[in-house]
Amino acid sequence: MSRASMATLMSAILQEEDQHAATDVDRSYDDHVNPQWVRLLNVLQMNVQYDHCQGAELFTADGRRILDFLSGYCVHNAGHNHPAIIAALKDELDRRGPAMLQSHIPELAGELAQKLCNLAGGRVRKAFFCSSGSEGVEAAIKFSRAHTGRSGLLYADGAFHGLTCGALSLMGDPFWKQGFGPLLPGTESIPFGDLPSLHRALSTQQFAAFFVETVQSEAGIRLPPAGYFAEVQRMCRQFGTLLVLDEVQTGMYRTGKFLAAHHYGVEPDMVILAKALSGGLVPNGALLMTDAIYNSVFTSLKRSIVHTSTFSENGLSMRAGLATLDVLERDGLGERAFRLGEQLRCRLREELSSYEMVKDIRGIGMLSGIEFHAPRQLSLRVPFEMFMKIHPGMFGQVLVMRLFRNENVLAQICGNNFLVLKVAPPLIIEEEDLEVFVRSIKNVVETAHRSPSFWAEALGLARRVIDL
Ligand SMILES: Cc1ncc(COP(=O)(O)O)c(C=O)c1O
Repeated sequence: MSRASMATLMSAILQEEDQHAATDVDRSYDDHVNPQWVRLLNVLQMNVQYDHCQGAELFTADGRRILDFLSGYCVHNAGHNHPAIIAALKDELDRRGPAMLQSHIPELAGELAQKLCNLAGGRVRKAFFCSSGSEGVEAAIKFSRAHTGRSGLLYADGAFHGLTCGALSLMGDPFWKQGFGPLLPGTESIPFGDLPSLHRALSTQQFAAFFVETVQSEAGIRLPPAGYFAEVQRMCRQFGTLLVLDEVQTGMYRTGKFLAAHHYGVEPDMVILAKALSGGLVPNGALLMTDAIYNSVFTSLKRSIVHTSTFSENGLSMRAGLATLDVLERDGLGERAFRLGEQLRCRLREELSSYEMVKDIRGIGMLSGIEFHAPRQLSLRVPFEMFMKIHPGMFGQVLVMRLFRNENVLAQICGNNFLVLKVAPPLIIEEEDLEVFVRSIKNVVETAHRSPSFWAEALGLARRVIDL
């Protein structure tokens, strides 16, 4: 790089840093909650103040309209602040009914459980309610051990199951685990989609359960190979291991059907739901299971509350879940997500496939991934590889930053695969906004291929991250 271009580069970075220094952060959050998060959002130039959010639109205090293509990692399937969900929650509050008495039968929990089990179909007949995906995973760990009398737990490489100790024990990436051990013993991972490895592991008959996402989200929107889940189910039954599907991101019509499992004809022993079950407003999760599993845990009167939680079955969460299902079903959002998702991937392929850094565009329903890889052209390959060495997330984070700042689109790279940009808008997204996304990502990808400013930005980001 010449001195002149280096100087231009550095002045561009310094200019950005000035703007960044002017960002107004919420002092009390900075002082008392998570200052590192504030610093990270500042570095990424994503620390904006939101005024209100509606559907797929996020409006900032300084007048920007940002399109949400992240959905809070698949929380906002029904769109932000859906009026029908808000009305149901207001109604629940106005009712002044019994809340968290821990001494009565919360009827709405029965109604929601029945609905979820009917929609899930197959063999699941009971629901345990909780307040997060991780809590659902924790319950599934306990219940699978109680049911099988085994302690081993099998999971897939690249999985994301949550950050509580049990869930964390089912994730391979050392980034999430470092410093928090020892975690649960007896866990083992196998490659996602690899049946011989699964057979080898299951035949030891050590494993209570195989935990697996139907479509791996944070691993990079990895779809199962054809026929995979039919064999997984057959083998799990053969060797007495329970099949636990983590549908925390893929459930609630995200992929077009109520469960992604329904695309593959699989009938799991347990299913974990969370995120979109909240309606984006009140934390809510559910572990669905067979009667036989329930009976292994709640075996007697004495054990009727052997696994529970204070916020489980609370009225607001139950109303949020019921109202969200009503919206998703009434408006046919699953079928819509499936159809528009296909259309979106077609358009993305049309516009992006010719760029050499774009490796693949894949997905199902409104859950898509754009995968990038090192370019062949030397002038691009050198900076690309340099930034990969500094931090493997750097390239993707500059894409995210530019999408946000220049195009007013919020998206993110996958948590366990930094070269995949996740595309997951609310299922109510307007067709013209899908086209806005196609144009926006094309602009950013074009800049990455043609303009030195992209790499200047990456260098600036690298410097700021190193300084932090
Ligand atoms: C597939 C999957 N499972 C489980 C979890 C954990 O959910 P929570 O963050 O609600 O604990 C997540 C969170 O992102 C997830 O993506």
